[in-house]
Order: sequence, then C-alpha cells, then structure tokens
Amino acid sequence: MSDRLFIFDTTLRDGEQVPGCQLNTVEKIQVAKQLEALGVDVIEAGFPVSSPGDFNSVIEISKAVTWPTICALTRAVQKDIDVAADALKYAKRKRIHTGIGTSPSHIRYKFNSNPEEIIERAVAAVKYAKRYVEDVEFYAEDAGRTDNEYLARVIDAVCKAGATVCNIPDTTGFRTPYEYGEKIKYLYEHVDAFAAGTSILSTHCHNDLGMATANTVAGVLNGARQVEVTINGIGERAGNTSLEEVAMIFKTHPDLGIETNINTTKIYPTSRMVSSLMNMPVQPNKAVVGKNAFAHSSGIHQDGVLKNVSTYEIMDPKEVGIDDNAIVLTARSGRAALRHRLSVNGVELDGEKLDKVYEDFLKLADKKKEVTDDDIMVLAGADRTAAHNIKLDYLQVTTGKGVKSVASVGLLIANEHFEAAASGNGPVDAAIRALKTIIRREMTLKEFTIQAISKGSDDMGKVHMQVEYEGRVYYGFGANTDIVTASVEAYIDCINKFK
Ligand code: KIV
Ligand code: ZN
Repeated sequence: MSDRLFIFDTTLRDGEQVPGCQLNTVEKIQVAKQLEALGVDVIEAGFPVSSPGDFNSVIEISKAVTWPTICALTRAVQKDIDVAADALKYAKRKRIHTGIGTSPSHIRYKFNSNPEEIIERAVAAVKYAKRYVEDVEFYAEDAGRTDNEYLARVIDAVCKAGATVCNIPDTTGFRTPYEYGEKIKYLYEHVDAFAAGTSILSTHCHNDLGMATANTVAGVLNGARQVEVTINGIGERAGNTSLEEVAMIFKTHPDLGIETNINTTKIYPTSRMVSSLMNMPVQPNKAVVGKNAFAHSSGIHQDGVLKNVSTYEIMDPKEVGIDDNAIVLTARSGRAALRHRLSVNGVELDGEKLDKVYEDFLKLADKKKEVTDDDIMVLAGADRTAAHNIKLDYLQVTTGKGVKSVASVGLLIANEHFEAAASGNGPVDAAIRALKTIIRREMTLKEFTIQAISKGSDDMGKVHMQVEYEGRVYYGFGANTDIVTASVEAYIDCINKFK
C-alpha cells in the first residue's frame, strides 16, 4: 500500500513574492480554484498581516474554495496570528502557518536573541495559534542551516505545544539532497510526535543551487509526508520546488510507494494559467511543462520515437494535460474553438467575457496567419487593464534610418483626453517622452525587455518594464503586434499602479 503525500501549494504566497508576479484578488481566486481542480491538499493563500490586499485575498479565497485547507502565514507574533485567524474566518478547513528563524545567523542577526528564547517564542506562537485553529503548522526558518540537535529540540517543543505539521525549510537552497534527507530522518527519529502520528514533517526547499526538487524527494523518502511546492517552481530568488516535478516523479516511480491526490491532467493548464496571469514565462527546457519537454528534435531520437514512443519518452504528454491534437486558430475559427483552446490553457470563459476576447482574437487573426496559445492567453489577460484610470487612446510614430523619431501620444485619463508630441532617440524613447509631458511625474525606467511570443514577423511582442517612482519600483506589462505600442502600454501599466 502506498503512503499518502500531502501537497501544500504556496504559489499564492511564496510564489507571489516574486517581483512583478503580483496578482489582484480576482486573479488569485482564479488560481485558487484551478489549484482545487488540480487536487492540492493545502493552499497557502497569503500573509494577511503584510497588506490589506493579502488580507482580503485570504478572505475571498476562503469563500471561493471548498475542499482544500486554506493556510495563512504569520511570524511568531500575536498580532500576525490575530489577523491571520480573522482572514481565515470563512475557510471550511483552515490552518495557521507560524514560525521563526532557528539558524545561528537568524537568531543572532535577525532576532538579536539566543537559542533558548527562540524555543520559548516558537512554543508561545504555536499555543497562541491553537486558540484559534486546531491545525497549526510551524516553520523553522533557515532549518537547512540549523544544527540538527538544536532543531530537534525546537521541533519537539512545538509538537508538544500542538503543532500538527512541522515545516523544515531549506530557506537558502543550500543543502545537498543527502544532507537534507539526513536532516528529515534525524528529526523523524528524534521527535516522538512523528512516529506517534500526532504531527507530520513537511519539506520546503528553495532552488538556489538547482537542488529543490531533489531535496524534496530526499525529504519524502526519509519520512516527510507533506511537500511545499509552487506551480512552475516560481518563488523567491531561484524559486521553490515545482509541483509538477514532484507529482510526476512519484507517478512515474510507483515503486517508491508514494501517492498524491494530484489530477496530473490538470498540470499543464495550471502551469499555463499561472505563467500567463503572472507574466512569468516558463523556460522552454523546464521539466514536465516547458515547451520542449516533449519535443524530440535530433534525428536519432525522432527515429526512435516513431518506432516506439517508449524509446525516448518516460511520460505520455496527455498524462500532464498536453493536448497534442492542437487546433490551429485562424480568422475562420469560431467561438467554440477559441473557448476550447483557452480551456486547455486553464482559462474558462463564457458569455460577454468570451465575446470580448473573441472580438480581440478576430482583430489579431486579421493581422496574423495563425494565432497561437500564447497569443490567446495574452488576449484573455487583456481585460486586466479595463479598470485602469489611464489608458492609451492613440499612438503615432515616425521613425526610420537617418531621421529623428517623433511620436504623438493620446491618453485618456479618467475619460478626459490629453495629447502630446515629442522626439527622441528611437520610437520608444520618443513615445515615452511624449507620455511624460502629459504625466508630469519624476519617474525613471529601470528595466525594459521585449520578447517575441512565438515566431514570424507578424508575431506579438510582450514587453516587461520596471519604472521607479518615489523610491518604489513598479512592474508593467504590454503585448501587441506593434512593439512600440506594447512598450507604451507597459509604461502606462506601471503608472496605473503608482501609490
Ligand atoms: O523559505 C522559507 O523559509 C519560507 C518560510 C516563511 C516558510 O518561505
Ligand atoms: Zn520559502
């Protein structure tokens, strides 16, 4: 019989901490519902005390989702726990995730404290959280660099205080799989609660040295029964362990005796949805969900796969929800075909919303021969700008070799029309100068990337920008077949986020 492994998804908390990946509440609900359909056991919905936006998202996700446990993060601080408990009030199943740093550097530099006082604070936080909820998870931040003997004392103390799950984060992604596995084994053998079944061990691995998934698997093989993961492996710095890798490792290795509740056919649509909503491309060679994950390009491999697919394929792409009978969308495609492709990519649209995307799709299909999945995901995300106060009304640019670029820009600000013209060092510079003469604020462009979505000279360009204003950096996104328009839209997206 297989052992059940609980999947704790932290895309909406650790993943959402990534600069530029912030979602609004409506988008977070969309992701949470998709995670529910995927079959995750726990959704970490946010860090409620950190901002009113996070607080509100935890409330709304709690209302929207039925069976996964909703988890809220806190520090080992009473105020954080009070706010988390309040945010979780509508959750059908709820968990508070509280904790404190346990490594020498955290104890000394972050808390200016000592090991005994840290144990007292950890125990007090767990006991305080238990007043509100039965299910309390404790994290020992930087457990990866915490001495095992001391860590076992901390974990034993919090289990006695009532922690139902003990999270052992390799916060800095430093440990090797062997070392991390040994750490989990040591804790399993030295803390009675795990063998007694009153608490379980959880992995939480970061990918700074590319070992997050290997460490997670080592943790599970040594006794952990929960894994903390994100879709596409997004997260702080080099990211977290990716859900899709862990789920498929245990599925393709039934001999390991580990079972999850993941409906693997929902993996690809979920990956696409998160990538699109967060404007975070998936690297083409990413395991399981990358564009090339099932593409066989060398002659020898193609020959082998044609003779028998098992020669070079260890998973069937259909198992992870990749639909290889992709319908090509053109100007003659109807709403049903568009709706189907959106659904394969994790976006369910109907009624007026589908009509609006279909209208934009027809305009794009007029300009491009074939409309790709990436294109329609951009179109489906376009209504995110509908509520913007500042909108691009028109843009005209004259540019070329040997002439100075000149741009005229028309903006709608709260439905009032403004226009300006400027020249510049290239079309984007000219357009942004014109824009700045309307929006008279001290702002600086810090980063600017343009990326073609698929291929062909008729392709859509995606633009990511970072603009600094009053000491804060804002992230903006634009997509258009005209890259100057996409750039100006990305700049305007940043300005609309100014606080
Ligand atoms: O990486 C980490 O240590 C964390 C904790 C807050 C759980 O994300
Ligand atoms: Zn983390």
